[in-house]
Amino acid sequence: MTDTTSNQMWGGRFAAGPDAIMEAINASIGFDQRMAAQDIAGSRAHAAMLAATGVITDSDAEAIREGLLTVLSEIEAGDFTFSSALEDIHMNVEARLKEIIGEPAGRLHTGRSRNDQVATDFKLWVRDQLDAAESGLLALISALLSQAEAGADWVMPGFTHLQTAQPVTWGHHMMAYVEMFGRDLSRVRDARARMNESPLGAAALAGTSFPIDRDITAKALGFDRPAANSLDAVSDRDFALEFLSAASICAVHLSRFAEELVIWSSAQFRFVTLSDRFSTGSSIMPQKKNPDAAELIRAKVGRIYGANTALMMVMKGLPLTYSKDMQEDKEQVFDAADNWMLALAAMEGMVRDMTANRDSLAAAAGSGFSTATDLADWLVRVLGLPFRDAHHVTGTLVARAESRGCDLPDLRLAEMQEVHGDITQDVYSVLGVENSVNSRTSYGGTAPVQVRAQVQRWKGILG
Ligand code: ARG
Repeated sequence: MTDTTSNQMWGGRFAAGPDAIMEAINASIGFDQRMAAQDIAGSRAHAAMLAATGVITDSDAEAIREGLLTVLSEIEAGDFTFSSALEDIHMNVEARLKEIIGEPAGRLHTGRSRNDQVATDFKLWVRDQLDAAESGLLALISALLSQAEAGADWVMPGFTHLQTAQPVTWGHHMMAYVEMFGRDLSRVRDARARMNESPLGAAALAGTSFPIDRDITAKALGFDRPAANSLDAVSDRDFALEFLSAASICAVHLSRFAEELVIWSSAQFRFVTLSDRFSTGSSIMPQKKNPDAAELIRAKVGRIYGANTALMMVMKGLPLTYSKDMQEDKEQVFDAADNWMLALAAMEGMVRDMTANRDSLAAAAGSGFSTATDLADWLVRVLGLPFRDAHHVTGTLVARAESRGCDLPDLRLAEMQEVHGDITQDVYSVLGVENSVNSRTSYGGTAPVQVRAQVQRWKGILG
């Protein structure tokens, strides 16, 4: 709706209201209403500080406080009429406050600008999302730890190039993701600590001549301190970029894990069975059970990294300080946050519910000559061969097994001795996958004893 009169909040010098298209491109209320709670929290802190420093009277501050609570309850109840003529959440809230409490509402914006206001609101919103991401990651890590603990000694093939490489344990594979999501967790915590400075009181860009106390508002809003440079405070969106960067890396991790689940749940692999709760059927093929949640998680990185790229490009080349370009920050972050949290929750649910098929894992672990490296190591350790020679002898034995259509432990001793005369019966002790994984006891290796130690370490970290 186009207002024919000039804007009631800033229209003093304007004779006419905006064109309908101008209003459409300018308004952010369609999306920034998601920051209503943060906006009202910021305004309450600001008003209380203005009273504490004597800039406004206690009675005005009290009227503002009560009025803001009424506005908040109206918004929460869905009783609030948002107006795009009022552009954004800041002016929608203030205009409604004026309707409710009258004249004192006009004093709320003393020593403040929408520039420090929006930076504050958005930071508070992103901070909440970092906290939500932290919870989501902790829940996912704990689900992975349960899987790792249950299957610390279940053998499965380890892959490079998606070709069978060496036997590993299910627990070890789960713990690899614990490390990855653990780094995501530390990125989230780092980002939160770095962003936790209050922009409020930077005003439009230069600070203010009113005797405000920025420590009071910073403390009231849970910030560690006020941001030290007013120009930077209103133009900084690093916190949003860091949020999106951390989200993007985590989304990459989620997509890699999702891809493994898609492969592992296929009829060809059968490594895992996903629960009915996290699968869907096909409307035409009755036998199908599709890993849709995993596929969607695999896809989420597209929009999350897209948001990261988009905001990087919005911010690129912007001169200090605030430019309206920066209004384009929010939708990207909102969408990425919604999808990140959803992907984390869906992955946690899938991991908690899934069943690792121990027998299929074990059968696959022994195929594909997975203990060839153990054989080569035996030739080095027991017969004293140089590793390169041992590699060659083993390769010859693999070729023999391949042409016979059997696995390495199925070769007879005499056949092996044709390739190298000194091989003894003892070699069979290293050809079994259990022995193979049990022998990988180096720190961080796949031996169950190491896997269990890492599970305990992580349980200690998570407390
Ligand atoms: N809606 C604006 C935004 O999201 C709020 C800040 C407006 N500031 C201004 N000087 N026009 O960025």
